[in-house]
Amino acid sequence: MFTVENQVSGNRFEVAQDETILDGAISHGLGFPYGCQNGFCGKCKATLMEGEVGYLEGIPPGITPAEVSDNMILPCKCYAKTDVSIVVTELESIADIEVKTLPCKVAKIEHLNEDVAKVVLKIPGNEALQYLAGQYIDLIHPDFEPRAFSIANAPHNTGIIELHVRLISGGKFTNFVFNEMQEKSLLKIQGPKGSFYLREDSEKPMIMIAGGTGFGPVKAMVEHAIESGSRRKIDIYWGARSEQDLYMSLPNEWAEKFDYINFVPVLSMPDDNWQGRVGYVHDAVLTDFETLTNYEVYACGPPEMVKSAANTFVKKGMFEKNFFNDSFDFAHQVSSV
Ligand SMILES: Cc1cc2nc3c(=O)[nH]c(=O)nc-3n(C[C@H](O)[C@H](O)[C@H](O)COP(=O)(O)OP(=O)(O)OC[C@H]3O[C@@H](n4cnc5c(N)ncnc54)[C@H](O)[C@@H]3O)c2cc1C
Ligand code: FES
Repeated sequence: MFTVENQVSGNRFEVAQDETILDGAISHGLGFPYGCQNGFCGKCKATLMEGEVGYLEGIPPGITPAEVSDNMILPCKCYAKTDVSIVVTELESIADIEVKTLPCKVAKIEHLNEDVAKVVLKIPGNEALQYLAGQYIDLIHPDFEPRAFSIANAPHNTGIIELHVRLISGGKFTNFVFNEMQEKSLLKIQGPKGSFYLREDSEKPMIMIAGGTGFGPVKAMVEHAIESGSRRKIDIYWGARSEQDLYMSLPNEWAEKFDYINFVPVLSMPDDNWQGRVGYVHDAVLTDFETLTNYEVYACGPPEMVKSAANTFVKKGMFEKNFFNDSFDFAHQVSSV
């Protein structure tokens, strides 16, 4: 066992030699930031001040060689080799919420288009999943590694979990969901996970940018904002290839009903009948806003979209601290179920 100390919060905890620093922090109920848990997204980055850490499979892609030279580490993939002291900003909101493994039943599978299904899970009556709008869960089936999916409904109905699942060509689990999984099937979920959630303590106007099924957590956040009576301005940008990929009409309905919500669909490969915006969704934001200085940006979907938004929005004045994202990187493994 080694001791990990966070110099920012003063929190200290023990980690076993075969336990990542992030797993240790989570099991001690600390709100370390993270996303993919697999070394891709870079959201868990921390600075190593003292001690030594190591990675099992080399330096992960979510951190650059220059950052490694600057003593930055990815706690989701690194192990303590001595007692260590690190610097990372913990999030109080997620620290307050227990990560649970719960049984659930598939209540409904609805095909929203050719390659997106809405899967509704029902948690047994005596249990509840507390989560923040925007977070994700790991879906657990004995025949597969756990798979991450964002919760697409707001937390005010905690007995039901809605997921928007995109079929991945050759993907083991998503093909199972589309071709074999039946209503009433039993699964387990583990969560809530991740630090992508609506910051409710802010008054800033928000830009929400979704790629494909990245609309799921955006839906959860907007539903929650509406339910909680917030009147913060929300500009929703939903990017997809073709019109059929905009698999829900909800954002149009919100924009008609609430004057503080604006919706801009953007297609990269539309057919000839499309009258709306064409191109990449982050480019549409860059065109529409002179400056992003006063905005909070929430971005969710394919890694390329999230990276493009992160890199270009900063040049338009967005502060990095106001950029929140979940990048739909590949599946990751969780250590225990
Ligand atoms: C935090 C988080 C939240 C997510 N939320 C959602 C969500 O709400 N809805 C959703 O549809 N997906 C979401 N994803 C992505 C989802 O987890 C993967 O698509 C899923 O794990 C694929 O499982 P599979 O078994 O079908 O594919 P696998 O059998 O694991 O992979 C098959 C092939 O597809 C590639 N691949 C795997 N995932 C992707 C991907 N996302 N994009 C492109 N290629 C891929 C693999 O490299 C491999 O070559 C999320 C991912 C993360 C990390
Ligand atoms: S790189 Fe660590 S959580 Fe994504």
